[in-house]
Amino acid sequence: MYEANVAYDLREMDGVELDPEDVDAALAVAGNEVVVAEECGRVVGWASVGRSGEAETVAHPGAADADDLQRRLLAWVLDRARARRLPLLEHWAGARPDGAARLLSEAGFSHARTMWRMARRLDGALPEPVWPPAVQVRPFDPDRGAHAVWDLVQRGFAGTFGSHARPFEEWASYSLGPQSDAVCVLAGQQLLGVATRGPRTGEGHVNQLTVDPAQRGRGIALGLLHECFRRDAADGYAVTSLTVDGENAGARRLYEKAGMAVTKEYRRWERAL
Ligand SMILES: CC(C)(COP(=O)(O)OP(=O)(O)OC[C@H]1O[C@@H](n2cnc3c(N)ncnc32)[C@H](O)[C@@H]1OP(=O)(O)O)[C@@H](O)C(=O)NCCC(=O)NCCS
Repeated sequence: MYEANVAYDLREMDGVELDPEDVDAALAVAGNEVVVAEECGRVVGWASVGRSGEAETVAHPGAADADDLQRRLLAWVLDRARARRLPLLEHWAGARPDGAARLLSEAGFSHARTMWRMARRLDGALPEPVWPPAVQVRPFDPDRGAHAVWDLVQRGFAGTFGSHARPFEEWASYSLGPQSDAVCVLAGQQLLGVATRGPRTGEGHVNQLTVDPAQRGRGIALGLLHECFRRDAADGYAVTSLTVDGENAGARRLYEKAGMAVTKEYRRWERAL
């Protein structure tokens, strides 16, 4: 399975995007339906559809007819989405016009949004996080703190493009893996901001960053990013990366202020059903 992913990503995304555990976790998300394509006993592709319409199709470029395989996987995705009465499908692709873009377009999808991967090298002196008065970082204890983090992520991202309200178990299945961590910023017992983090293909990666809507504009997110850089460097990573919606100008300004720069473009394709 992972071999097909690596080969597909190298062609479609110009680099490997996920570790084997990330692929397993993505496929195991509650509510996901998955189909696997085999050729002579070897996995050459797979497709998945999530309960909020998140779809993925992966075809090994070395498969007998890789384009046709991806077309069939897309047709399966459309069938399952119709059967589940999903109103909209979302699918990721790289920026190249001759890759998945062509097949998604044929299957009735349109390019809805551009997303950027941004990254910062962690060499040299790293900035010290600066917090507003009475605000402090506390260690994350998944047994006691996971519900509060999930609740803030749901509230913080509500209404932002591409976010979906997720039940706790669904969020936890990909946010609380063995290598996951969350930088938690509190005032007393109140969680004000959080950055969930975990390694991805040899880099430190910020998965979700949000600040309580009532606490924004106080420098908390900048402090969270600076803390992520320090933890990633302490864990031995040379780079911290993340992905940002191309139209989230506020977040992009924040990341640029933190010294991050765009390294890659992704595209989100959508199809209404
Ligand atoms: C993006 C978000 C995390 C920023 O949190 P925050 O604590 O308000 O950010 P900070 O106060 O640390 O801002 C630091 C800098 O980022 C930039 N910035 C942050 N929010 C901004 C906005 N809405 N518009 C313009 N610039 C913004 C500014 O340069 C700011 O510095 P300045 O205040 O000196 O101008 C918060 O708005 C949020 O949770 N949004 C919803 C979830 C989201 O979009 N997360 C990012 C997903 S990739």
